[in-house]
Amino acid sequence: ELGEHRHYMHKEIFEQPQAVIDTLEGRITQEQVLVSSFGHQAETVFQKIERLHIIACGTSYHAGMVAKYWAEDIFRIPCQVEVASEFRYRNPVVENNTLFITISQSGETADTLAALQQIKAMRQSQSSEHAANETNVPELSGISTLTICNVAESSLTREADMVFLTHAGPEIGVASTKAFTTQLVALALLLTSIGKVKRTIPESRENLITNGLQKLPNLIQQALMHEQEIIDIAETFADKQHALFLGRGTMYPIAMEGALKLKEISYIHAEAYPAGELKHGPLALIDENMPVIAIAPLDDLLEKLKSNLQEVKARGGQMIVFEDERSDISSDSGFKVVKATTNVGRITAPITYNILLQLLSYHVALIKGTDVDQPRNLAKSVTVE
Ligand code: F6R
Repeated sequence: ELGEHRHYMHKEIFEQPQAVIDTLEGRITQEQVLVSSFGHQAETVFQKIERLHIIACGTSYHAGMVAKYWAEDIFRIPCQVEVASEFRYRNPVVENNTLFITISQSGETADTLAALQQIKAMRQSQSSEHAANETNVPELSGISTLTICNVAESSLTREADMVFLTHAGPEIGVASTKAFTTQLVALALLLTSIGKVKRTIPESRENLITNGLQKLPNLIQQALMHEQEIIDIAETFADKQHALFLGRGTMYPIAMEGALKLKEISYIHAEAYPAGELKHGPLALIDENMPVIAIAPLDDLLEKLKSNLQEVKARGGQMIVFEDERSDISSDSGFKVVKATTNVGRITAPITYNILLQLLSYHVALIKGTDVDQPRNLAKSVTVE
């Protein structure tokens, strides 16, 4: 079953171009998103909603965080994202006309499921309390739930009002890779559909996004071709115990995902920071034993990131930079630079850069000799809280 691959994780990383093709299949045309792929009631629901609230755990939560940046920046839709185990116990205020989105590979994550059930219970009880006119709790209206899930027959797909399936295929490695990538594709399709229905984006933007998504399998393929350079860089981690991941904008949640993957499968302690937060504390950690991994796409924040990286360099930190061919972070020998992508847009960039970080943690784990597919203490599906 593994074919030429040593581990399921490696196989699943290389399946990503196909997983994206399968997730897009039947959901877009050359120029447009098909809103109906979110269900027959999607158009009516999207028309009414005014905000999004995303709830998930782990890697799926990171997909939600990327979507928050997209939702507000590109589509002008207010969006909150929350870890399910926090949401369910903090007695949240729920506003009218909110679309609650749960994201899960397995569809069985206990906290995510409980959060969804809680939202449905609140919707139910507030409307009955209002009907009985016993309290002055305002009636909740316009609450809908949607789940993005990789398992068709699962607890989450049974509970949600609307279901959108990612077609990543079975994911066996405990560390999520292709499921994450397809969750991001699903979120891009969802936001574009909402933006289209609510007319917060022009048609030309919809065309650009669908074109970008169609190019994504190829962009991922190109990213995978950098594996040998990443194998060489992984050597840097042979004797390291810590690592810091930096990004700005959507690359901040991608840095979080990169850090989670490294922790999970190589047991190296890794943290992610938005690069602008460096001087508010983590800069104190920097020395030659702390590799710093930065993601540097060609965007409006590049100049700011460059100066953050110079600050790291000045403290003796070892820099590993994944950048656009035109980003030109540094030719300084203190920087290990992988010129990995070009022509990525705002939607395709985080998805493409993440592939490089997946390869990095995989190859670091190989050097460390850990059990890549079955990391200690972890389970693929977390059905207890
Ligand atoms: C990390 C990982 C976990 C899961 C999390 C949620 O690689 O796999 O963090 O993302 O346990 O699982 P799902 O998506 O099945 O709800």
